[in-house]
Parts: sequence; structure tokens; C-alpha cells
Amino acid sequence: MTLSKDYEHWIRTSFVEMNTALEEIYFAREARENVEGIGDEIKTQIREEGHEFIVQLLVEGNTDEGFENAFDLLGDVGLYMASLRRHEVTNPARETKSPLHEASALAMHISSFLGVVPRFATAHLTTRNRAVNGKIKSFTTLPDEYLFLDYNLRSIFAFKRAAELLSRVLPLGVTNPAAAILFEDAGDALRDVIESNDLLFKKLDRDRFFYCVRPYYKPYKVARQEYRGANGGDFSGINEIDLLLGLCSANDPYYSQLLVEKMLYMEPRDQISLRECMRQRSFLLQFLDAAPENKNDLTFKKNVEAYLSVCKLHGTTARQHHDKLVKDYIEKPSAALTPEKYKQVTASGPPLEELMSALEILRDMRLAVDRKNIRSAHDDMQKLRSYVGV
Ligand code: HEM
Repeated sequence: MTLSKDYEHWIRTSFVEMNTALEEIYFAREARENVEGIGDEIKTQIREEGHEFIVQLLVEGNTDEGFENAFDLLGDVGLYMASLRRHEVTNPARETKSPLHEASALAMHISSFLGVVPRFATAHLTTRNRAVNGKIKSFTTLPDEYLFLDYNLRSIFAFKRAAELLSRVLPLGVTNPAAAILFEDAGDALRDVIESNDLLFKKLDRDRFFYCVRPYYKPYKVARQEYRGANGGDFSGINEIDLLLGLCSANDPYYSQLLVEKMLYMEPRDQISLRECMRQRSFLLQFLDAAPENKNDLTFKKNVEAYLSVCKLHGTTARQHHDKLVKDYIEKPSAALTPEKYKQVTASGPPLEELMSALEILRDMRLAVDRKNIRSAHDDMQKLRSYVGV
């Protein structure tokens, strides 16, 4: 216990200070994206100090300290590995396996019994980021990193709230007069996502985010296996909303592949909640089932309208994420990079064009647009609208 606490203390103090110092050195340079050979003394210090703790933790092999501590320790090992990746001490493109053998072993040991990926995930810095005297864990003390984590967490909370409210409709059924209240409350939660993302967009400095925050979210290897970077969306709430609303479905091969891939990046309780959702009949299908008998009922019409309004708001969050955040903070600044750096810009690994088109598909599913090459809810929604005349 003491050893993992000492290591965590190092992560919260010297580690953060060294990363911040390196960021300031890189950012002051003309070619900010070139970090190889810069600040090597500090990089070595991060590597060696972290290594000393990790070797002892591996020998101690004490994994029986409860879920919270094990999950935190996995995050702390992950922050170390992600930092060395960011500073180009490691780079999966030139390695057959991670040179951080002990860190890899410790991460795999912990992750195998937690049932999560053996790397740091978004939850470590957002939903499970315990503050000590008001200070959260982070890679650096840069205001833009705090801003990003703060607004990411606010959006995650709001999405989770919306998902929870929608799940309460399940036992009631979509014809229940109370369903409209839950749809309206879920809509309010999604309005909070929109507001929070708008504020993030207004406040976050594009260059600081692109050059000093985002690089910590790159993929890295743990032993022989490369793991994609964490991203702000690795929580179940957003997918639960997709599935419950019927904008995406778990039997669509495109979407289910995404869920399978994402599952182990989520904390275990999110995995359980998502699996539960995957078994449910969506509200869209439930409304269509009930429409022939209820289409002239005023309560039914009110519920449909409230449901459609939630769908619209969910689509708006997707448009905002893609058209504002991803375009402005990743696509635009990437244009200035050399081809070599450009290749490594995405957190998930694939080339930027591929990532952009995958995110566009998700956006369009959530907007229920009429698009040939995707399985969208467009036609079913039109059918529902024509039943109730809205
Ligand atoms: C995924 C960018 C903030 C939710 C992604 C991806 C990118 C991205 C590029 C694709 C994964 C990858 O990088 O490989 C950004 C940027 C942000 C931002 C530049 C802010 C500056 C947020 C916030 C949320 C969020 C605040 C709200 C919780 C998601 C979700 C995904 C995702 C849910 C997974 C794909 C999906 O289901 O849509 N983001 N993001 N992001 N992000 Fe963000």
C-alpha cells in the first residue's frame, strides 16, 4: 500500500512537474511537433524515477488491495507509459514490443483481473480522478489540460445523466404518460452537454491542446500489443443513448464492432450497464410497435414528440463534437504537420482521413440522416412521424 501511495505521490508531483517543463521547452520552439532529442535529461529522469517504483511494485506483486487501488495503480502506470510515448522515448511504430518491460508486466497483471485494457483510460483522468486537496491527477499543470479534463468530465456526467433518465423509461413503456417527463429531463441533460462543449470550444486554446495535451493520448505498446489512445468518449453513456433511442443498433455490424472494440476501455461498471442496454428493444421500435393502436392518442403523440426532441438534441451533440471540436482542434492544426507526424496524429491509430470518415458515420447515425451506405434510423423515424402527424 505504502509503495503504491509513494508512486502515486511521485505521479502527482515530480512527474507532473517534469512533463510541464518539457511542454514549455517544446512549445517555445518553432517546430513544436519535433520533440526528439529535446530535453533529454528530463526525459531520462522521468523514465528512471518511474522505473524504480515500478520494479519494486512488480516485485511486491500485491494486487489484493481492492478494485479502487488496483484501478488507480493501473492508471498511474499508464500515465507513465503514455508520457514516455508522448516524449518519443517509446514509439510503437519503431518497436516490436514495448521497451518498458516491467511497466508492461505490471499493467498486464493488474488489468487481467480488472477486466480492462492494460493502459491508462479516460476514466483514470475523469470519472475516477480523485482530487487531493482540490488537485486532480493530470499529465501537466497546464491550464489547457485542466480545462479539457474539466469540460470532458462535465460532458460525461451530462451524457450519463441522460442515459440514466432514458433507462428509467424501460420499465414504464413508451405509452406511459410519465415517459414524456423522462424524455424531457434527458433532453435537458443533453442541453448541458451542448453548453459544456460550447464553453470548451470557446475557452480551449487550439495550439496548446494540439501540441501539449493531445499527444499524451497517443497509442502505445504494452508488451507486444499496441493499444489505441484513450479518448474522451470511453464511457458507456453515449452508446446507451444511441441504443435506447434506436439511432444505432447492436446488431448493426458496423456499430457492434465499435462497441466490442470500446468495451475494455470502459470501467467495469460501464461495461455491465452497456451490456444490459444491448439487450433492450429501442424506443423507436417500441413506438412503432405501439403506433397502429395508439396513433390518435394525445398522450402517445406527446411522448413521441418528447422522444423526437431527445433524438434531435443527441444529434446536435454529435454534430458539435465532429464539426467543431474534432475539426478545429485536430483536423485544422494537423494540416501544418509534416507527412511523418501527420501519420501519427490520431489517438486511435488509423490515418486521420479514416478516423474523420468513421466519426462522420457516427455523427450521421446520431442525426438519423438519409445516407445510403449506413444503417440509419431515418426511414423508421419518418414512419413514426407520419403515424402521429408531426
Ligand atoms: C472520440 C476529438 C472532446 C466524446 C473522439 C475522437 C476524436 C475526438 C479525434 C476519435 C478517437 C481518436 O482520437 O482516435 C475530440 C476533441 C475534443 C473532444 C478534439 C475537444 C477538444 C470530447 C468531449 C466529449 C467527447 C468533451 C464528451 C464526452 C467523444 C466520444 C468519442 C470521441 C463519445 C467516441 C466516438 C463516438 O462515439 O462519437 N474525440 N474530442 N469528446 N469523443 Fe471526443
